[in-house]
Amino acid sequence: MAKLKVGIIGTGNISGIYFNNGKRFESMEVVACADLDVERAKAVGQQYGVRGGSVDELLADPDIQMVINLTIPQAHAPVALQALEAGKHVYTEKPLAATREEGLRVLEAARSKGLRVGGAPDTFLGGGIQTCIKLIEDGEIGTPIGATAFMMGSGPEAWHPNPDFFYQPGGGPLFDMGPYYLTALIALLGPIARVTGSAKISFPERVATSEKLYGKKIKVETPTHIGGLLDFASGPMATLLTSFDINGGSVLPRIELYGSKGTLLVPDPNTFDGPVKLKRAGEQEWSEIPLTHGKSENARGIGAADMAQAIATGREHRASGDLAYHVLDAMFGILDSSANHAHYAMQSTCRKPAPFPTGLADAELDR
Ligand SMILES: NC(=O)c1ccc[n+]([C@@H]2O[C@H](COP(=O)([O-])OP(=O)(O)OC[C@H]3O[C@@H](n4cnc5c(N)ncnc54)[C@H](O)[C@@H]3O)[C@@H](O)[C@H]2O)c1
Repeated sequence: MAKLKVGIIGTGNISGIYFNNGKRFESMEVVACADLDVERAKAVGQQYGVRGGSVDELLADPDIQMVINLTIPQAHAPVALQALEAGKHVYTEKPLAATREEGLRVLEAARSKGLRVGGAPDTFLGGGIQTCIKLIEDGEIGTPIGATAFMMGSGPEAWHPNPDFFYQPGGGPLFDMGPYYLTALIALLGPIARVTGSAKISFPERVATSEKLYGKKIKVETPTHIGGLLDFASGPMATLLTSFDINGGSVLPRIELYGSKGTLLVPDPNTFDGPVKLKRAGEQEWSEIPLTHGKSENARGIGAADMAQAIATGREHRASGDLAYHVLDAMFGILDSSANHAHYAMQSTCRKPAPFPTGLADAELDR
């Protein structure tokens, strides 16, 4: 199979792992990169042995069939639309867009041009969550009843060199970390039918304590402590709590999934790894379940590689634009519900992504 030729737009912090994993999978090959900061793109390109240059140059290159969009969230939709306009498939880091309207515009532009859209996170394609999906499908916990998901933290201003954007609309723990939790829950339980939320700003001003900006005051413009209830179309309901306001620590698990016959401890959805633990009704102890699937180290980019493979073979890709949009709709839905004092009936849906088969080699994405 010929490798799909890929250009990366946005050569910041996260780009390194995409360049590295671009060499790992057999379906795609990163051949160029671009950034608003052309000098940075050139330097990063040189580091990884690909052409670096401007966005216009990259989009004008007829050899490039797909763009991996690693720009900042506000630029995700504009860059995706530019790429689609230039006839390229596009895979975007999370979140798909800064607003629902922009997200829908991206999906519609792709549909009208017969191109594909995909989006991060792709951690649900790692060995940890794929093992959980198999356990559910094998009936190990019986009928799923509910789930809890917790992302409890004290906020990024203690370590991030430029934390302001985390406290602007489109930031906060829900939009920054929520995509990992929501995408994992949808991969495990299918699409969401309704969400309910309650959200607040606990501290209207924060103070950076990271070295570079020590003492800088940050105005908080978006909720930082958000509770959500998710009613899944297939029946189960989940409680999601995301917070940047936890200053004394927390011992809550990441994700627990409750079924009629047992409980599953799902690993941190911001990783590709385990551990996966299971306790069936009547058992005294938790059993750690050996992972049934590989790709449990940092496989970031696997969603884009799976999309490249799907383009070549004509099947659906797993980290789809519809899934990324459904997650975006759920996050805004939680905030809308809180503001409007009402449930939010989801206006979008998606297919539950197909699980990977077992027994694939590391570079393989299909049997
Ligand atoms: N850094 C992480 O650990 C991490 C982890 C997971 C996901 N992400 C996601 O990856 C994306 C990028 O994050 P990052 O940490 O690499 O950010 P970053 O700020 O380090 O890099 C973003 C790059 O995009 C470029 N850029 C911005 N607008 C552009 C435009 N219109 N056209 C071309 N280039 C543009 C910037 O110049 C910069 O080089 C974000 O969506 C983030 O949510 C980051």
